[in-house]
Amino acid sequence: MRMYDLIKKKRDGEPLSKDEITYMVSEYTKGAIPDYQMSAMMMAIYFQGMRDDETAYLTMAMAHSGAMLDLSAIEGVKVDKHSTGGVGDKTSIALAPMVAACGVKIAKMSGRGLGHTGGTIDKLESFPGFSTEISSEHFISQVNKIGISIMGQTQDIAPADKKLYALRDVTATVDNMSLIAASIMSKKLASGADAIVLDVKTGSGAFMKKQEDAIALAEAMTTIGNHAGKKTIAVISDMDEPLGFAVGNALEVKEAIETLQGKGPEDFVTLCITLGTQMLMAGGIAEKEEQAEDMLKKAITDGSALRKLAEFVEAQGGDATAVYDVSLLPKASIVEEVFSEQEGYIKKIVCDEIGVCSLLLGGGRETKESRIDLAVGIILHKKVGDYVRRGESLATLHANDSVKLAAAKARFLQAYHFTATPIEKRTLIRKMIR
Ligand code: URA
Repeated sequence: MRMYDLIKKKRDGEPLSKDEITYMVSEYTKGAIPDYQMSAMMMAIYFQGMRDDETAYLTMAMAHSGAMLDLSAIEGVKVDKHSTGGVGDKTSIALAPMVAACGVKIAKMSGRGLGHTGGTIDKLESFPGFSTEISSEHFISQVNKIGISIMGQTQDIAPADKKLYALRDVTATVDNMSLIAASIMSKKLASGADAIVLDVKTGSGAFMKKQEDAIALAEAMTTIGNHAGKKTIAVISDMDEPLGFAVGNALEVKEAIETLQGKGPEDFVTLCITLGTQMLMAGGIAEKEEQAEDMLKKAITDGSALRKLAEFVEAQGGDATAVYDVSLLPKASIVEEVFSEQEGYIKKIVCDEIGVCSLLLGGGRETKESRIDLAVGIILHKKVGDYVRRGESLATLHANDSVKLAAAKARFLQAYHFTATPIEKRTLIRKMIR
């Protein structure tokens, strides 16, 4: 088999066979297929798409490209959660400790930023010393000991996704349904949890802009997961404006901490409770939704979720005092407000543009080798439906470079659209797929 022939076949709209997909994934993982050929293949898939059977073959080939974690040494139902990616999506950082504080075993594998969206691993690295590069043995023993661990992709778990994820991030080939489904589900299948709760985002800040595409992606992933014997549930949630107010790594960690202190933004709290309810039920800890919701709310009010976050940070080498003293998180040297040039109700915030502003400030990667600036980002003061007077502050930008700040500021103002008539707040939870 030759990669050249496979690229040409896909470019011309023909489906690839199971053997061809398996060959391509295993040779690329070994380094026998170079990045430039795989980039061409990703772009061909982006334009031509994949059939359901090709997506399933791709998922399985990626899942089996390395070791399949065996979590049977952990007692109880292990639950994982994954988002398809959004702007201001710091959900795992608050949700995982909330759910773990209620007694569900959280064994989660997370990723880095992708395209205009941020990644949990980058965000967690805002805690000085924190590492997600832990061995499978450390991962398992930590879940057994404190009920929670989040690891990055090691070289031996779904290594094909690790390479493809970094390649897609810099080649504009992220937002394809089959590539997202295979990327997420290959990791989830290889990382061994018993149940998976997926947060599938829809709207201008998501990879799936249209709700019907998000539903199709959710259905593809739940089918793959349930077929593989994992209880898989998907929640479709709105990403047509940033989640919460903070966008940017350390700023989002701070907002997640505030949420665990009972001071979280309403939309973000709602999402954590909705996803957490499904996780508690999948983990067999709660039978009814109301019971799960009460348990999660109590974990915030009695401080157990915040303590669980501190325990988790410490277990992975981080400075847990930063959980109680957020001034220890990375801080930007320039903090500047952006004032509205218009007046009216906010009709729309072009959400992916807000993600791009954070990237422009240095919060994302330009190339696979780029280092990100954890301190930079945006704190929004106004969201869809709010009334804004001319000259009122829309947001505060956190930067470490005045040239980058100027570029981000100009773009930020373009993302806001106003109207003279009142606008309803957006509905966050759109649909549940089991
Ligand atoms: N999250 C992933 O892990 N992979 C994708 O392709 C998109 C979001």
